[in-house]
Parts: sequence; structure tokens; C-alpha cells
Amino acid sequence: MFRFARPLAVFSSIAALAALTPVRAAGIDWASVPGKDIVLFYPGQASWEWALTASDMSGADDFRKGKNCDACHIGEEKDMGPQIVTGKPRVFKTGEKPSIEPTPIPGKPGAIPATVKFANDGTSLFVHVEFAEGAQPDARQDPAFATKVTVMFNDGKVPEANRGGCFAACHDDASGMPSAAGATRTKYLPKTHAKLTRQGGGDALKPADELAKLKADGYYLEYWQARLNPGQPAQAANGSIFDKREQTSPTVVSAEASGAGGKWSVTLSRKLDAGAGFKSFSGPGPYFVAVAIHAGHTAQRFHYVSYERSLAIGSGTADFVTVKK
Ligand code: HEC
Repeated sequence: MFRFARPLAVFSSIAALAALTPVRAAGIDWASVPGKDIVLFYPGQASWEWALTASDMSGADDFRKGKNCDACHIGEEKDMGPQIVTGKPRVFKTGEKPSIEPTPIPGKPGAIPATVKFANDGTSLFVHVEFAEGAQPDARQDPAFATKVTVMFNDGKVPEANRGGCFAACHDDASGMPSAAGATRTKYLPKTHAKLTRQGGGDALKPADELAKLKADGYYLEYWQARLNPGQPAQAANGSIFDKREQTSPTVVSAEASGAGGKWSVTLSRKLDAGAGFKSFSGPGPYFVAVAIHAGHTAQRFHYVSYERSLAIGSGTADFVTVKK
């Protein structure tokens, strides 16, 4: 018996390590996985409350009646971003609208086209994002990372995000937004706050028992992020958005990337089931996803975002259906 002690101990410590080490994406031949092209646009200070106000965004009434953001806007992102990013008044067929970017970054591109692919191997969910970020001026907001790629996941349990994607988490009083008045606030979901006005939800939350019920019902979003510098391994991070954005430590996601000359190929993955507090991807869905890219050492709202897309795991009808690998 005793002579097995050492090998067994070695084995169990390897097993323990394997359990802790996030899954690797190296096995997937992405060239064999069909992708879809999306366009991420620079949104300036367009908040949830702004988009729901008809005098600010003329689709607001139709959105309240049931038409989703993507139904009006997919296909327009390549025109939206470039006019928002300049910080100048925006021009439409129906007339001019005021700037929604008070502190423009000179020379910043207004949109980034990306190709997105999803795969699953029965154990893990993989998302692959390829894009060329263009000539990005250095905004010096995040000296640590040149580029960050974030994928937001919703398992259909956040109704506002089913219809409005990440905008459901982007409020008028978050850091750097028009009603922040210098306060530091991360993303949050509408129902976690006692009251939402045109200025956002402020700091008053729903009572603790109501928050606990919302959380238990899956009313939160999950994000996976790859943090990138050219020539260095990607760093992974993940977290959730409920009454605020919270990063998970240690991360349950792995990130791989290769990039040169502003062209990136990024893979994020995690187990289909990562335990309590994480979205399970072994159910039937529907799932919704949206992608954000911070390029040119930017932070907070100075990113590019996509409208929401639907995701099906394995089979089904959705914008993205994972390919079995
Ligand atoms: C019924 C169609 C419709 C819906 C639904 C809709 N919008 Fe709009 N949106 C418009 C129109 C039209 C404009 C052009 C500017 C204007 O007239 O306000 C616009 C402008 C915008 C702009 C600024 C574009 C630019 O080039 O400056 C953003 C950002 C935006 N919408 C976001 C959203 C979000 C977020 C939602 C969902 C919460 C949404 N929209 C829902 C019709 C719509």
C-alpha cells in the first residue's frame, strides 16, 4: 500500500490542476467553422434611458411597443459609428440631431467589422472573434492593454437584454455618461434599481429580498473577456452584471489570441456548466450574445459594441448555431 502513496499523490495533484486549469481551445480548426459577419459601432454616450426617450432617439416609441433595437439598426452600424465618433452633430434624412460624444478621440475609426464563430465540443462552449481594428490612436485610458474583446451572454432571463442587448446594462449615470456627475458606477440591470429616471437608477437598489429573488431567477448577464497586447499571450477575465459589474476571481474562462498589425483572432471558452452563479449552456436556450471591443488602449464607454444576436447550442434557429467539434 505504502509504495503507491507517492504516485497517487502526484496523480491527484495533476487531477486537481487539470480541474483548475481552464479549458484550452487549441483543438478547434476554426477554418472549418462557418462564421457570420457583424459590425461593431462606436456608441458615444447612447444610454438605455437615451434610447428609450423619443426626443433623443426616434425609435423609442416603437421600441416600447415591441420592436427590438436590432430590427431597426442591424445593417446601419457602419454609418452610425463614424458619425457618432467625430463628436459632431449627427445628420439624418429627417434632420440633424445633437452630438452624443462630448470628448471625441481624434482620428478614431467609427466601426469595426468582425467575423464571429461559435463551437461546442460537448464539454465547453467556444466563441471565436476575428477582426481588424484599423488605425487606432492611443487613448491612454488603459495603459495595461491595447485591446480587449468582450462577449456578453444572456440566457433569455434578462428581458431587457433579450430586446436591447448590452444597452440594457448601459445607463445614463454610469461612469463617463452624461448623468454621472463625477460618480463611479459600473454597468447594472434596470430591475435591480428602485427607480429608473431619464438620468438612470442612481444608487438606490431594490430591497435585498427582491434582489435575491431576481438573482435566483437568473436575472443577470455574464461576460467573458480577452485582454490583449501584441506579441503576448491573451489574459482571460469574466464576470457578471446584476446591480453592478463584478469580476469573477479566479476566472473560469480561457482566452487565446494571435494578432499582428491590428488584426486579431481571439478565442474565448469555458465549460458549458461552470456551477452556481454562471449561465448554463447545456439547456435549450434561447441565448443572446453581443460583442464589444475596446481598441487603442481605451476603457469604460470608449468601446465598439454590437447589437444583440441570438445563439443556439448544437441545433435550432438562431443568428448563431454552435458547430459540434
Ligand atoms: C423603429 C426603429 C428603431 C428602433 C426599434 C430603435 N431605433 Fe435607434 N434609431 C432609429 C432612428 C430612425 C434613428 C435616427 C436618429 C433619430 O431619428 O433619432 C436612430 C438612432 C439611433 C442611434 C444613433 C445613430 C447615429 O447614427 O447617431 C443609436 C445609438 C440608436 N438609435 C440606438 C438604439 C437602441 C439601443 C435601440 C433599442 C433600445 C434602438 N435604437 C431602437 C430607429 C430605431
